[in-house]
Amino acid sequence: MDFFRYDSMRQRNTKVFLTSALLLTTTTTTSAFDCTPPGFEAHLPSNARIAYTRDLPSNSTFHVPTGDIAYPTSPQGLPALCAVQVNVTSSPSSAFSFGLFLPQDWNDRFLAVGNGGFAGGINWLDMAAGVQYGFASMSTDTGHNSTSGDISWAYHEPEKQTDFGYRAMHESVVLAKRLAKAYYDCEMKYSYYSGCSTGGRQGLKEVQMFPEDFDGLLAGAPAWWTSHLQLWTIKAGLYNLPTTAEHHIPPSLFPAVEKEVLRQCDAQDGLKDGIISDPARCDFFAEALLCGPDIKNGTKAGCLTPAQISTLYNIQNNYVDANQTFVFPHLELGSESQWDVLLGLPEPSPLGYEYPQYMLGFGANWSFYDFNYSVVQDADRLDPGNCNADDFDLSPFAKKGGKLLTYQGYADGLIPSGSSIVFYKEVLKTLKPKGVKVDPFFRHFMVPGMQHCTGTPPDVNAPWYFAGANQAGTLTPPGSVHSVPGFQDPQHDALLAVMQWTEHGIAPDSIVATKWRNDTLYDEVWKQRKICPYPKQARYKGSGDTDLSENWSCEPLY
Ligand SMILES: *[C@@H]1O[C@H](CO)[C@@H](O)[C@H](O)[C@H]1NC(C)=O
Ligand SMILES: *[C@@H]1O[C@H](CO)[C@@H](O)[C@H](O)[C@H]1NC(C)=O
Ligand SMILES: *[C@@H]1O[C@H](CO)[C@@H](O)[C@H](O)[C@H]1NC(C)=O
Ligand SMILES: *[C@@H]1O[C@H](CO)[C@@H](O)[C@H](O)[C@H]1NC(C)=O
Ligand SMILES: *[C@@H]1O[C@H](CO)[C@@H](O)[C@H](O)[C@H]1NC(C)=O
Ligand SMILES: *[C@@H]1O[C@H](CO)[C@@H](O)[C@H](O)[C@H]1NC(C)=O
Ligand SMILES: *[C@@H]1O[C@H](CO)[C@@H](O)[C@H](O)[C@H]1NC(C)=O
Ligand SMILES: *[C@@H]1O[C@H](CO)[C@@H](O)[C@H](O)[C@H]1NC(C)=O
Ligand SMILES: *[C@@H]1O[C@H](CO)[C@@H](O)[C@H](O)[C@H]1NC(C)=O
Repeated sequence: MDFFRYDSMRQRNTKVFLTSALLLTTTTTTSAFDCTPPGFEAHLPSNARIAYTRDLPSNSTFHVPTGDIAYPTSPQGLPALCAVQVNVTSSPSSAFSFGLFLPQDWNDRFLAVGNGGFAGGINWLDMAAGVQYGFASMSTDTGHNSTSGDISWAYHEPEKQTDFGYRAMHESVVLAKRLAKAYYDCEMKYSYYSGCSTGGRQGLKEVQMFPEDFDGLLAGAPAWWTSHLQLWTIKAGLYNLPTTAEHHIPPSLFPAVEKEVLRQCDAQDGLKDGIISDPARCDFFAEALLCGPDIKNGTKAGCLTPAQISTLYNIQNNYVDANQTFVFPHLELGSESQWDVLLGLPEPSPLGYEYPQYMLGFGANWSFYDFNYSVVQDADRLDPGNCNADDFDLSPFAKKGGKLLTYQGYADGLIPSGSSIVFYKEVLKTLKPKGVKVDPFFRHFMVPGMQHCTGTPPDVNAPWYFAGANQAGTLTPPGSVHSVPGFQDPQHDALLAVMQWTEHGIAPDSIVATKWRNDTLYDEVWKQRKICPYPKQARYKGSGDTDLSENWSCEPLY
């Protein structure tokens, strides 16, 4: 580990990062009690108890308990730590659990990580990335046991919905901090959060409801507008159904759409490099994809019929309903590589139709073909579990000195990238008239060519890695990697950027995203490029290697 310096001159057993010494000092701690249940039990309220503890030596694997179907990967190569699972009864009809990794080499800080989709399970892999920095790291199962696309647990279970909406996260944060403080016999210096997708929503919910919980947050691709996102998911799926209809675009044609979008939109941002930097500025001419008279179904030729072009129009435009009401933004140009997930099945995604079935209580027999705008109105009225993170007045969080960094990939095919822009604009519209400045505490970064939370399409190869939530877990071996290997500094690592902003007041004016030749192996750095606080955009300076971040600058779009 070449980025560590063993600083024997100053203090024994203290590891210091060369690049950001102040941020990442870890100190070998002596705990106040052993890594066994009794020591922890003494610090828990009566509705909570220790499920188990595990005392792990350096370089071990945390074997995920069988039954954690949402996050089954066992993180490897962990530092010496005490692992704890706590079970908490949250109401007469609900309970949640959380996992806590307490590292022996501790950085005096706390990190909570988030979940994905409707997954009910402890996210051990993101906790592993956190503990590798030296954080006491926590994740909650949100109060149920299920995979990401399964919402059946929510049927007529308002208390479980509430745990999922916000309660399990907040109460886990409170208890985990209490246990960490007792174990180390020491106050935490700072508390952080990192999550993507539902994890992004959970972070925003914390900022809105419990501004005291965290000092700094990283919230990616936030699924913040649950009542609209889930129902738009049905609407979007229906655009391309049934599969027998003339207007159906078979998934085999998605790559043809992707190729044409790239052909038209890549250069419109000023540089032809395979990466669409500014999809909103591309005036896409879909009719370029029209088939000629000899081809009725363009599966082989890679062209579309007029009926299929109409479907494409629906997909690529906002969902607007009665009285010109804006309901949800469209999938962005360049997101086609992930269309399989929501548009490629013989039915809409269960992330969509299971929401009215089980969260709104319509039942398993409700058919998505019966979807209409009144369902959206019902959802807004009920907001089951209080999931919507739509309290845009973030001034209490701003006032206490909190810092929030959100981001989303423009090639996101699961949550339209425009939805995080909607959130950012709503916050501006709420705070600017009140005289609260947004830029000093909240910045939003769009990531050209990045898919949902992680990754980039193979024919785009955009720099996408900046140690956002879920990202380190894609590198191998899982759990052993954190930060940006080779670039462990606030210029390249968004979590370190949030820490530097929180602890030293240095706001991130850009973050350098990285693409390796083989991302999984993080072998040879191929491209690095700046991502910028919205509405700024990275612009090529006009000369020099386009794969070097120095040759890009953040310029105002508007
Ligand atoms: C803790 O909760 C998990 C998940 O619900 C459950 O499987 C386990 O049996 C519980 N353990 C204890 C000791 O209550
Ligand atoms: C950690 O464990 C793995 C296998 O479990 C081994 O290959 C590796 O050499 C170990 N690393 C260190 C630093 O001990
Ligand atoms: C979660 O549910 C699955 C069945 O869907 C079961 O096999 C597993 O044991 C459950 N896990 C826990 C922790 O209860
Ligand atoms: C188009 O042709 C392919 C291949 O022959 C077939 O699988 C598909 O169902 C057809 N689609 C339509 C909409 O007719
Ligand atoms: C649309 O507007 C009209 C006139 O204001 C109103 O009566 C009607 O209820 C609205 N429709 C919906 C679905 O909101
Ligand atoms: C749901 O549909 C099934 C099969 O059509 C039927 O047997 C069942 O009674 C229905 N359930 C409800 C609650 O309507
Ligand atoms: C709209 O959908 C709801 C739920 O499926 C249904 O009860 C209602 O009858 C529908 N309204 C119209 C006008 O079709
Ligand atoms: C990256 O390396 C892994 C492990 O060797 C391999 O399985 C994978 O196919 C490689 N990916 C690419 C894009 O070459
Ligand atoms: C591009 O980056 C290289 C390497 O840092 C640098 O030498 C060169 O001056 C840069 N070009 C511009 C236009 O900034």
